[in-house]
Amino acid sequence: MKEIVHKYLDEIASFVAETPEQIEEFRIKFLSKKGIIPDLFGEMKNVSPEERKDFGLLLNQLKNSAQQKVDLLQETIGKRESVNEKATDLTLPADFISLGSRHPLSIVRKEIIDIFSKIGFTVSVGPEIEDDWHNFTALNFPLEHPARDMQDTFFIEKSPDIALRTHTSSVQIRVMEKEKPPIRSVFPGRVFRNEAISARAHCFFHQVEGLYIDENVSFADLKQTLYYFATEFFGPDTQIRLRPSYFPFTEPSAEMDISCFICGGKGCKVCKGSGWVEILGCGMVDPNVLENCHIDSKKYTGFAFGMGIERTTMLKYQINDIRLFFDNDLRFLRQFESQS
Ligand code: PHE
Repeated sequence: MKEIVHKYLDEIASFVAETPEQIEEFRIKFLSKKGIIPDLFGEMKNVSPEERKDFGLLLNQLKNSAQQKVDLLQETIGKRESVNEKATDLTLPADFISLGSRHPLSIVRKEIIDIFSKIGFTVSVGPEIEDDWHNFTALNFPLEHPARDMQDTFFIEKSPDIALRTHTSSVQIRVMEKEKPPIRSVFPGRVFRNEAISARAHCFFHQVEGLYIDENVSFADLKQTLYYFATEFFGPDTQIRLRPSYFPFTEPSAEMDISCFICGGKGCKVCKGSGWVEILGCGMVDPNVLENCHIDSKKYTGFAFGMGIERTTMLKYQINDIRLFFDNDLRFLRQFESQS
């Protein structure tokens, strides 16, 4: 008798099934009311009393292993079946693939660079951690001069010499130290200022700087270049206006306004009723700055300009809070999908 049970144990252990029908066949053969196992339990009465206990244990083992086999096979085949059904059901909608999109600041940075590269400007970049020379001193900010307070600076580990750059004008110095005129380049990059974060200001943002140095570069060239930019970026009817201003590294200096592209100059919320919106700072490179970079200021002149990418993007897309750029809220970012 025991041999028969061992034979069945082996059979159960080596049984494999490919389909649910085969599992069911197996279940009926061993476990159903008229199956092998209940049948064997029925044989108990013919076993001698000494052997009955061992035989009972053996039969229980047989019953458990048959039941476990059925459970296991049902689970694995069931899973496989449902995967197969999914894969072959051609009526199911396809899985959604989210492609993502460019960040609005990247879109606008690229647009600005493209506009200037069409008139021969190359692109250069410089470090975000700068020394005093490149961020201030070479740019004609005298030591202890209040002009340094124009931009509140993050210093690195209390060293007065190393700071996070407060503007991309530092790249002007790096490029002029390295290259000989003619120089015609734009410098995009991230800048940092120790300012309280609000809807209008952030402690870090992005700028694009422009620099043009050659013989006989005049203020008229500056004006024409910026006019070209304004009409390319904001539309062909855009007017520009230059207001006198002050930067230590340019003389004369100006701030450029564009005619409000929302109301066309009539006055609205974006231009606060004035018809004009400020867009960038600019000026003729101060001769001291050229000399600091070993460029002969008798022979060469040049102009520089710098604009905030956040500010420009906010104007173009009428975004009213600078913090939206850094929140990574997909509801905001997805609105720029069609632009990228
Ligand atoms: N660096 C100035 C700023 O951050 C902008 C500027 C650049 C002005 C070049 C003049 C010339 O405000």
